[in-house]
Amino acid sequence: MKPGLIVLGASVFLFPHPVKEIAEVAAEIGARVVYDASHVLGLIAGKQFQDPVKEGADVVTASTHKTFFGPQRAIVLCRAGLSGKIDYAVMPCAVSNHHLNTLAGYAVACMEMLEFGEAYAKQVVRNAKRLAERLHELGMKVVGEAEGFTESHQVVIDVGDGEKAAKILEKSGIFTNRCLLPWSGGRPAGIRIGVQEVTRLGMKEGEMEHIAELIANALQDKDVREKVAELTMSFKTIRYEFEEDPAYGYWRQA
Ligand SMILES: Cc1ncc(COP(=O)(O)O)c(C=O)c1O
Repeated sequence: MKPGLIVLGASVFLFPHPVKEIAEVAAEIGARVVYDASHVLGLIAGKQFQDPVKEGADVVTASTHKTFFGPQRAIVLCRAGLSGKIDYAVMPCAVSNHHLNTLAGYAVACMEMLEFGEAYAKQVVRNAKRLAERLHELGMKVVGEAEGFTESHQVVIDVGDGEKAAKILEKSGIFTNRCLLPWSGGRPAGIRIGVQEVTRLGMKEGEMEHIAELIANALQDKDVREKVAELTMSFKTIRYEFEEDPAYGYWRQA
């Protein structure tokens, strides 16, 4: 039996999916392609990642609060002709309430993305690359070396025991996420790091080098808590946002 739906999605999302190639196969067998952009929506909006719509996806789903600036919501984009079925599948089939309390925040986030998204997404990718390179220089097993480590906001390190490493880092004030690796046999051997938040606070390549050193030192049982606190205390202002006249002014112009 041939599939009717091909869903592309990933929580560890270092490189673009082969959407174009899969869309060509899907067209041959009459299947639809769904692309889950939850993790990379801000990078797509900022034009620094693949454009799944141009590459042939029929439907794009995403959360709005990972690399995108918004509050916790979700969006579904689709080709003309599919919206009736999708609207029905969302309401009444899956959702009864569309959480109006976060709608204004989401609209502001969209306007911030239009205005600052490109600069932000460029810095996110630069930061992730520099963090990965520096971790590698410090002797850590960063995943994806042959491909340049990452093209997204994420960096993944094979640490052998991801749970233990994530706990040590957490005690140091550095929050990462243990993750499975394809070769780790169901054990979380990796840790996953995302640079989207520190980038939003204005950190650049120099800070990524510092963070890499803090991570490497913490994993060698050195006490880095004070240094982590110093770094975080000097980056407390959100960047890539409207500063004075709030977004409503922008909205009126648009
Ligand atoms: C691939 C993928 N899709 C969708 C989601 C849904 O995220 P949320 O419930 O935060 O919108 C997640 C969560 O991290 C995810 O990893």
